[in-house]
Amino acid sequence: MGDLLAEKVGDIAARSPHAARVLERAGIDYCCGGKRTLDEACALAKVAPTELLAALADAPAVPEGENFVEMPLAALIDHLLETHHVFTRAALARLDGLSAKVARVHGERHPEVVEIRRAFEVLRDDLTAHLFKEENILFPYVRGKLEGRTGMMLDSASGPIHVMDHEHEETGEILRELRRRSDGYTPPVDACGSYQALYAGLAELEADLHQHIHLESNILFPRTMALEE
Ligand SMILES: [Fe+2]
Ligand SMILES: [Fe+2]
Repeated sequence: MGDLLAEKVGDIAARSPHAARVLERAGIDYCCGGKRTLDEACALAKVAPTELLAALADAPAVPEGENFVEMPLAALIDHLLETHHVFTRAALARLDGLSAKVARVHGERHPEVVEIRRAFEVLRDDLTAHLFKEENILFPYVRGKLEGRTGMMLDSASGPIHVMDHEHEETGEILRELRRRSDGYTPPVDACGSYQALYAGLAELEADLHQHIHLESNILFPRTMALEE
């Protein structure tokens, strides 16, 4: 049990969706900060390790189709595209209009929504470029490698993976800023429906991105690098 504290949170989250959910609920960064040990991550998030260890130990069996560590890599890429890339694009499109409207209407009384709009614009542009690179450079390369294709544009995944990892960290940084500026996505008492919908939507996007980045940085990328060796 104590050994778990010395393990990397990214590896713990990779073992089961239950573990990832326990960490997410405790406010532990297991995707961009996945290389920290559980002990370090608990200290950083000011979480008592005892309760967390108990919750992690109480894990149900990994459901069929959610064993991302053993799933064929091509299926993992399909899952990322069909689930997370689709969700991200739809959420960005919806929250774009909503964040602009809330900033315009409520910016004077609540200056934080103007800052939230500004941070959202950076997130939107960064993620749009990021998804494009994964879909058009990295993922096709991994698929080609799996199929034994030769003469591909890239000769190694390590460069693109390095860039994607760095961009994941930048995304994590913007998500932390959004959470801070919105007081943990708590709307003020006078918030209208759009204001509430914006905060709820941003919180959903955050949770989905955590899982998405986790599957890439902690599972897909290390498995791809192992394929190269
Ligand atoms: Fe992705
Ligand atoms: Fe990514």
